[in-house]
Amino acid sequence: MWDLLITDTAGGGAIGVAGERIAWTGPAEARPPGGSAAVTWSAGGRVVTPGLVDCHTHLVFGGDRAGEWEQRLAGADYETLAAEGGGIGATVRATRAASDADLLEAAVARAGALAARGVTTVEVKSGYGLDLDTELRMLRIARRIPERAPVDVVTTCLGAHAVPPEFGGDADGYVRFVCDRLLPAVAAEGLADAVDAFCERMAFTPAQVDRVFTAAGRLGLPVKLHADQLSDGGGAALAARHRALSADHLEHTSPDGVASLAAAGTVAVLLPGAAYVLRDDAVPPVAALRAAGVPMAVASDCNPGTSPVVSLPLALHLACTRFGLTVAEAIAGATTHAARALGVHDAGVIAAGARADLVVWDADHPAQIVYWLGLDPVAAVVKRGRFVKGGPA
Ligand code: NIG
Ligand code: FE
Repeated sequence: MWDLLITDTAGGGAIGVAGERIAWTGPAEARPPGGSAAVTWSAGGRVVTPGLVDCHTHLVFGGDRAGEWEQRLAGADYETLAAEGGGIGATVRATRAASDADLLEAAVARAGALAARGVTTVEVKSGYGLDLDTELRMLRIARRIPERAPVDVVTTCLGAHAVPPEFGGDADGYVRFVCDRLLPAVAAEGLADAVDAFCERMAFTPAQVDRVFTAAGRLGLPVKLHADQLSDGGGAALAARHRALSADHLEHTSPDGVASLAAAGTVAVLLPGAAYVLRDDAVPPVAALRAAGVPMAVASDCNPGTSPVVSLPLALHLACTRFGLTVAEAIAGATTHAARALGVHDAGVIAAGARADLVVWDADHPAQIVYWLGLDPVAAVVKRGRFVKGGPA
């Protein structure tokens, strides 16, 4: 006897849920003997997907950068603003100054907005602390988001996001701090599921990222990389060399970079919100990634600088219209491939044994999930077996 049976999904499927897990799924008529449930609910012929997985966000931060965005609209340049102390540095100042309670409240509001639009698992990075205390604080706060929003959280330490001002431009010295102090402290407290870095001319060189990834490997932590976002710095190949879970952005990745991702089995995470907001015309090499069989994920990259985006379906729309993904690729990119980019094996899929995280969409065809800009037609959400939106009256 299951706890919940959802019947009449688009395509005539049914899903049995026991506790927090999917117990069975298949065509309604193939339901096993004894496959009855305490609660049966009809999806009314609507599309049901796995709960969406947002595999790249910076949800915890202080302040916002609307003023900087206005300056960019008037012609200022992202890298120049950063070099002058704005950009990531401005958010670092605001995050260090914010209380835990304020950081948590703002992060929960953003997580709630993502969840209302179909997200049930979200990755959250640190990287706006850049000192021991604030990096640890960010990760602890990220881990508390599920107390107040219906999402599972996967955390990533992005200590190597930028060189903080107190290092006076000494990037090597800061990398030493990340490797010798920050990552061991994060690992000792079990605060991160992975380690990320920003490989870019305005951030860290491949050699510096290599040191961070080697330190992560010694601590048994998987890696992922902000790679080739603004220029081709060989980031994709570097990520592949370290068997990264994912290489993210990739607007400027070369054909060689694509080949190394394919050989390593690294997921390409596409972040069209950032490219759009930065007004960057460069597009990731989607056709080459597709041809090479590299799994493509899509994420919101929710952050105050380059992607103030709190809707994953909106990012999927941009991935289709601007980057050329098909609807099926976009939906796989926010479910199975996104879970793989996080090293999570029991989310992003409707299969027996997986977490019972499901979204029922006001849609009779998957394209309707991605097509709208700003509608996000979520009818009901099941999180770990319980309706957190919609469902039986
Ligand atoms: O994913 N690329 C670097 N990190 C973020 C943006 C950080 C910021 O500008 O605050 C990104 O785009
Ligand atoms: Fe990012």
